Order: sequence, then C-alpha cells, then structure tokens
Amino acid sequence: MDSFLIKGGVPLCGDVAISGAKNAALPIMAAALLTREPCVIRRVPRLVDVRYMGQILSRLGAQVTWEDDAVRIHAAKIKGVGDYDLIRKMRGSICIMGPLLARLKTARVSLPGGCVIGARPINLHLKGFASLGARITITGGYAQARARQLVGAEVFLGGRAGSTVLGTANVMMAATLAEGITVIESAACEPEIVDLANCLNAMGAKVTGAGSPIITITGVKELHGVEHEVIPDRIEAATYAIAAAATKGEVTLHGARTEHLAAVLDKLQAAGVRTERRGAALVVRRGRRLQPVDITTLPYAGFPTDVQAQMMALLTLVPGISIITERIFESRFMHVSELGRLGADIEIEGPSAIVKGGRPLSGAPVMASDLRASAALVIAGLAARGTTLVNRVYHIDRGYEEIDSKLRGLGARIKRLQES
Ligand code: EPZ
Repeated sequence: MDSFLIKGGVPLCGDVAISGAKNAALPIMAAALLTREPCVIRRVPRLVDVRYMGQILSRLGAQVTWEDDAVRIHAAKIKGVGDYDLIRKMRGSICIMGPLLARLKTARVSLPGGCVIGARPINLHLKGFASLGARITITGGYAQARARQLVGAEVFLGGRAGSTVLGTANVMMAATLAEGITVIESAACEPEIVDLANCLNAMGAKVTGAGSPIITITGVKELHGVEHEVIPDRIEAATYAIAAAATKGEVTLHGARTEHLAAVLDKLQAAGVRTERRGAALVVRRGRRLQPVDITTLPYAGFPTDVQAQMMALLTLVPGISIITERIFESRFMHVSELGRLGADIEIEGPSAIVKGGRPLSGAPVMASDLRASAALVIAGLAARGTTLVNRVYHIDRGYEEIDSKLRGLGARIKRLQES
C-alpha cells in the first residue's frame, strides 16, 4: 500500500486545475445503462472509484472504453445482477440499481454494507423503487427489485439526516422509463443531482425541478445516447482552498464553480481566509490572523459533510475553540485521533468535535481511514513542522485525481512511496 511522505511548512502557491466531480461521474456512468445506444462522458476524473464503476458496467455486459478524460459506455445488451465482490468495495455503485430496474424491470444488487463513516443503509432507495411498483426482496445479502411495469408515483425520500443523494439519483433514473409522472419529495439538491438530471434530459428524459427538494419526472418509452461533460469537483476544490489557507499560501483554482462552494467559502471567509474571483478562477489565500468558527454539516446547500474533515485540519491551526458538528453520518470523526498524533487538541462530544486550536502541529506517521479523512491528514501534514508519513493512501486515490503531483505543482514537498 502506498504512503505519502510530506515535509511540512511550505506555503502552497500557484495554480491548480480542478478535475471532474467523482460524485457526478459515478451516477452519470450508471445512467448509460438506461439506453442501448452509446454514451460518451467527458471530464471524468481518473480515479480508482471511477475505474471501478467502469469494471462494474463491463461485468454487467456494457462495452466500456476509456479515451483520455472521457469514457464511452455502450450498454447494448446487459444483465441485471451487481455482484457482491464488486458492490462491496464501492458503495457508490448502488446507483446501478435504478437504471437496471428501469431497463430490465429487474435488478439484483448486493447490499453495499457499511463503511468507516457509517451504516450506509439503502432503505430509502428501496422505498422509492417500491413506490414505483417494484417488488423488493432481501435474500442472501442481495436486494432484488422486480416489476412488470414501473408506474410513476409520489415518493418522499427524507430520512433521519435529510435526503439521500444516491437514493435521489437511483429513483430519478428508475422513473425516467416508468409509465406516468413521478414526484420525488425531499429530493437531494446537490449539484451532482442537477448534473445527472441535465444528462438524463439530454438522453431524452423529462426531468424538472432538479436542484430543488421537489423533482418531477415524466416517464418516456426509451432514452437515446448522449455526450455529456461532468461538472467540476466542488469537494476537490474545497480541499485545495483549505490547503492554501492551512499552509499560509496563495492558490488559484481553475475550473471550480464557486456557486457550488458557497457554504464552504462563507465559513472560510468567516475564519479570515481571503477568497476572490479572478475571471473564471478563484484565488484563495490566508488573510490576517484566522478566527475560530463553528461548523455543522448539512445537506446541500449547507456545509458539506465531505469537507468536514479537511476543515477540522485547518481549524486545529486556528487559536481558539471551534465546534464541528456532523449531522449526516454517524461516525465521521475517524480523522480526530490521527490529527491528535500530529499534536491537535480535539475532544469528541457526541456528534460534535471541540477543536482547541492554535498549537502548532508536528509531523508524525499517521493512518488514513477513509477518503476525506485522508485529505485532512495530508492538509495537516503540509502545515505541520517536520515530516509526516500518511499510510494507506489508496483511500485518497479513490477520490482525488493525482493529488500528489497537483500538490507538488503548488510547491509542496510530498513524495509517494510505493510499497514494493
Ligand atoms: C453521497 O453518498 C456521496 N457519495 C457521499 O460522498 C456524501 O458524503 C453523501 O452523498 C452525503 O452528501 C457519492 O455521491 C458517491 P446519502 P450517499 O444517501 O448518497 C442516510 C465522498 O466522500 N441514508 O446522501 O450514499 C445515510 O445513512 C462520499 O465522496 C438512509 O438513512 O449518501 C446518511 O446518514 C462519502 N437511508 C444520510 O442518509 C438510505 O436509504 C446521507 O446519505 C440512504 C441514506
């Protein structure tokens, strides 16, 4: 397993290009299952999870060919079973279920199981499919949905933590080929849902309201192929913005959509970080002495849970008390103990982490545990005095395209140690 060796204390300076959004690319790749015509998806980030989705689609019978940052998916003939060993490794693959159900009227997908950040149930996905007339059975660790014909319906997708992003994607995709009209209430409003809806409409679907809590889908007979470019990754952009602030540097982000970053920029500005638009680019630099801020993660357009760990790394450097409350996942504080190894003073109180910031961090060996926690450890290592060794960086390769070379391009002293 690879590791990153980081020599901290160097301000990040320069330009970084933001890649396509992982969390938009995954459901959009799955959407190619809805048509027997070829689909070309551009600005697909070269990530482990994205390649993995390609493997899953191939195992379902689709032809998948990669051309630079584009992928061509031709699902002329497919089968409806997502194997356990494939789905288990990547929870995001659950979004093949809606398209399989819509196209084949049957889908059998292994229950994704939990991961380090929480239980990751799919009850709301299955509730949505059942509302469309599918019969749901759970046997042998698989969820099976079958329907003679999907029929449009009203479905409420709100759960204990608000809506469900991939649940909304799954039900929206299933509804595109249902008979009649489907109204999803308490739909997820994330930009990745809007991007998926735009792609579906370009395939001939009739989806309105994406980006709002009420999405209406009027079923059509069939969908056709598409060429679609994925939106930029707002979580990657937030990660580099926070790294610039944490290292007292100045970084220009190219390709980020600032309207997708409003909650993050609001909190960075409240902490004293300077951000400004320069044409289509976003410049981020550490302003005056930073101030502590309180963060609560919420469904979009609230502060994103996928930026919680990275923000915590920054706030460990800010003198004063910052309180971070995680409202989306039940155990997304795996990075707290590892940040503690770098000298951070953080106490967990239920859903909140109390960050007593201001003590300088000092480098140490740390262990990555999940995608965003790994990013937090890299940020902390870049800001810490001395050398930090981040182990198990395969976690980070799942969601950040070429992060070590992008950081080196900003002046970071980071080296990938390949395990022999
Ligand atoms: C998506 O996961 C993202 N992944 C996650 O990003 C992101 O953190 C999450 O949305 C929340 O924004 C992809 O898009 C591939 P949810 P998803 O369903 O859709 C509960 C990253 O780091 N819930 O919105 O799986 C669930 O337990 C990843 O890039 C149910 O109760 O998340 C959680 O508490 C991590 N029942 C909350 O809803 C369900 O049927 C939000 O989960 C589904 C979800």
